[in-house]
Amino acid sequence: MSIDASSFLFDELRETKRKLDKALKEGNRVVAARLAKRMSELLRELARFRSWSSRELLDLAKEYEELYRRLVSGESMTKPRSGAPSMRVVESEVGELDKEFDAEALKLIARADVTWSDIAGLEEAKRELMEAVFYSIARPSAPVKIEPPRRFLLYGPPGTGKTMLAMAASNMLKATFFYVSVDRVLSRYVGDSPRMISAIFRQARRLAPSVVFFDEIEVLAMRRDSDKQVATGVVQTLLTELDGFKTKTVEKPVIIIAATNKPWMLDEAIISRFDKRIYVPLPDFEARKQIFKLHLEKRGFQITGITYDELARLTEGYSGRDIRNVCQTAIMMMLRRANPDIAEKLAKIKNLSELQRETYRVEPITREELLKAIEIVKPTITREDIEKYEEWSRRYGT
Ligand SMILES: Nc1ncnc2c1ncn2[C@@H]1O[C@H](COP(=O)(O)OP(=O)(O)OP(=O)(O)O)[C@@H](O)[C@H]1O
Ligand SMILES: [Mg+2]
Repeated sequence: MSIDASSFLFDELRETKRKLDKALKEGNRVVAARLAKRMSELLRELARFRSWSSRELLDLAKEYEELYRRLVSGESMTKPRSGAPSMRVVESEVGELDKEFDAEALKLIARADVTWSDIAGLEEAKRELMEAVFYSIARPSAPVKIEPPRRFLLYGPPGTGKTMLAMAASNMLKATFFYVSVDRVLSRYVGDSPRMISAIFRQARRLAPSVVFFDEIEVLAMRRDSDKQVATGVVQTLLTELDGFKTKTVEKPVIIIAATNKPWMLDEAIISRFDKRIYVPLPDFEARKQIFKLHLEKRGFQITGITYDELARLTEGYSGRDIRNVCQTAIMMMLRRANPDIAEKLAKIKNLSELQRETYRVEPITREELLKAIEIVKPTITREDIEKYEEWSRRYGT
């Protein structure tokens, strides 16, 4: 039977059941009563967590509450009546339902081909993630037991490298990378979303080392207001899974990275589950220079009449994505200038193989083109936005 997702709850449930049977057999009423009560608590907990099979689990919980009542009131000590859902029935039913979603979870596996050197700046964030990866895999020189951080929340303005960081961490770990758009999970699986979340964790554990990346995690909190039931079920599942994480072994790590650019929408219950909350800010002068180089120089383009220092100075307040857009815009301008005749060329071309033999000119990108591109691509983030991030960071940053 493979019920990994909530295995820690199931394990305790089985163990409690075993002890309860023993206490009943030995006629130990006090111990049996305590254990019967624990059984019902565990079943109710499991029902909350696994909303799709909650009815069966709640029925079973009631049986144990009835047993508890009988035990404390001194009535006969028989077990829940036969015909009630047994542990085995509950387990197999849950297991069957899970299978459908395992296949769906596997579809979220994505390629993560970003390396640390593709990311400019963000030294602090890189170091935290590198450490997590390193201490998760490498062995200590003395027999100590450490709990490296496994649950990260990356927050900061859009387009600053959060997704890239998650991918680079995964790539370094040679991990299975699960890209989970929280918004998509909620809208595609609606009431089944909690099941889907469980399946993702189960598959991540099976295919460990894994990195599970939850993008736009704030959607959970937003939906919590509008589509209460669904989002609450997902949050509950997520929280239980994140909690269950602490106990997992070190050899095959599963690292959870969540990202948001609206951290203030998250509630404390979610925020507190993350070991590390890392601010991913707008690039500073050096990082902007680096990002320009990554998108121009490293790709073989030349610039003329302007330096990388000047470009970095002119783009204060721009995100990495804004800078990438500046570069792409400038590249297109250069190509248009260097190849003014493509319309005529295209008119003469008859088929694909002819087109494949065509060449086009590449020239240095001029100062005017870059300045024009900077003018066209306005920074997307405002000063007030930044203040909001910094304020949140002072309260919750680690
Ligand atoms: N620090 C950086 N170094 C190099 N490139 C960057 C950096 N930050 C952003 N970029 C560029 O911007 C693009 C978007 O980055 P990314 O997708 O990681 O942003 P994000 O923080 O996840 O944004 P969002 O919050 O909108 O999801 C990258 O593909 C890259 O081209
Ligand atoms: Mg992103």
